[in-house]
Amino acid sequence: MADEPLVLGIETSCDETGVGIVRGHTLLADAVASSVEEHARYGGVVPEVASRAHLEAMVPTIQRALKDAGIAASDLDGIAVTAGPGLSGALLVGVSAAKAYAYALGKPLYGVNHLASHICVDQLEHGALPEPTMALLVSGGHSSLLLAPDITSDVRPLGSTIDDAAGEAFDKVARVLNLGFPGGPVIDRWAREGDPGAIAFPRGLTGPRDPIYDFSFSGLKTAVARWIEAKRNAGEEVPVADVSASFQEAVVDVLTRKAVRACKDNGVDHLMIGGGVAANSRLRAMAGRRCEDAGIRLRVPRPKLCTDNGAMVAALGAEMVARGRAASSWDLSADSSLPVTHTHVPGEPGHEHGHGHEHSREHAHDHDHFHELSKENLYS
Ligand code: KG4
Ligand code: ZN
Repeated sequence: MADEPLVLGIETSCDETGVGIVRGHTLLADAVASSVEEHARYGGVVPEVASRAHLEAMVPTIQRALKDAGIAASDLDGIAVTAGPGLSGALLVGVSAAKAYAYALGKPLYGVNHLASHICVDQLEHGALPEPTMALLVSGGHSSLLLAPDITSDVRPLGSTIDDAAGEAFDKVARVLNLGFPGGPVIDRWAREGDPGAIAFPRGLTGPRDPIYDFSFSGLKTAVARWIEAKRNAGEEVPVADVSASFQEAVVDVLTRKAVRACKDNGVDHLMIGGGVAANSRLRAMAGRRCEDAGIRLRVPRPKLCTDNGAMVAALGAEMVARGRAASSWDLSADSSLPVTHTHVPGEPGHEHGHGHEHSREHAHDHDHFHELSKENLYS
């Protein structure tokens, strides 16, 4: 237990400043500062607002995580950070902070993939992931089906959304219904009072010639908006509960159908679901039923671990350390469109900084720019 890697993870890809600390599969701290309320009045995440909020929250959130975990930064075996995908300005704040701390403390730095982290976090809840793992990731920014033979080095995209992400569809429909932002939780609540069969909304990409594992939610969103508009134009009241339930049913039906199909086709007997939409009560219920019918074991982390957080980054970082994966080099940069196949960003052979304590003058020169960026944060 005590010899498992102790890793701090930093996540700033969107609007949550997350700092988590884990020892192997054990969660020690999960500090999150969200700027979601600052975005609410815009109906979506504003990148500049998010970056600024990360900058302000970063150091206090790191300090809170260290305090919650009851450890000193010098005890750490490594520092992991989301290198992408995500909003570039937002990612940059996390990457700069991680570099500054890793460099100052003499610890190895691991730039990791946000999507792989969403999968890996389940180890903190349900123990080691079986290999391969089948994952359905659904959030405001992504909707993907991923097959992961090795979460630290081999993640294969089977399909993803060709337009809106699932959470984005929830957010947009909620906006049309004047329910506020983010839309997922409030639609989930309204749907409980409604009839999921009241309105037959379209199931995107489920025709015989459609790609089996890809998703599309844009047509559904438009269909819902048109249906509401027609009601309003006719001077009739919009049945919010029925619309919510019927819309949600269409999303959840497609997600679970395709995920179960992916498991069966690939001979995988379990499914993990992650991302903010995994908090959806109907998704959990329908996935549970359909997986049981198909003899598939379902793994869904608790909601706080499903939404963006630092613990998921720490979990993947710890796995990188445990499996001896190469650390990132000091010139690690944020990559807003880091492909999911890049589970982490290893340094070039010969340019690795290995396990800290090897800082050359050369390195120090290379990285003046990030020291500039983060000095303020570190010492204020
Ligand atoms: O993972 P997350 O916190 O951030 C990223 O987008 O990466 O996911 C946020 C998304 C939002 O679109 C939100 O509406 C959705 O997750 N969400 C939900 C629920 N809770 C959050 N969608 C459906 N049902 C929910 N209960
Ligand atoms: Zn995410």
